Amino acid sequence: MTWQQHPDCPANGARLCAVADIPDGGGLEVAFGAGSENFKILLLRQEARVWSYVNRCPHFSLPLNYEPQNFIASEGLIMCAHHTAFFRIESGECVDGPCAGTGLTVLPAYCHGGEVYFGSRHHGMETA
Ligand code: FES
Repeated sequence: MTWQQHPDCPANGARLCAVADIPDGGGLEVAFGAGSENFKILLLRQEARVWSYVNRCPHFSLPLNYEPQNFIASEGLIMCAHHTAFFRIESGECVDGPCAGTGLTVLPAYCHGGEVYFGSRHHGMETA
């Protein structure tokens, strides 16, 4: 199943959060739907830039975080809390760990007026 086929995938233009809700240098999960198989969006921010991915590690298809909203990121990388795979924040590429060579699934999102929306504009968009 692709992310577009997920029954809880939000509509284009759905509001995800405020840019300020995403910790600078960290991440925020915004989920749609109920249950463990709901649609989990991982938003990562570095200063005025935001990236969005499916919050699912390609190793065991688990969320990258072990505890709610606890994402481990530094120096341009985010680490999966389960088996320490490292992904580039800017591309989602897995550069180290058990699933090196794979990557996170990019989701479309854009910023407008300090808010983040789901949709097909720009990935890694400027937020200013
Ligand atoms: S589930 Fe992410 S590294 Fe294993």
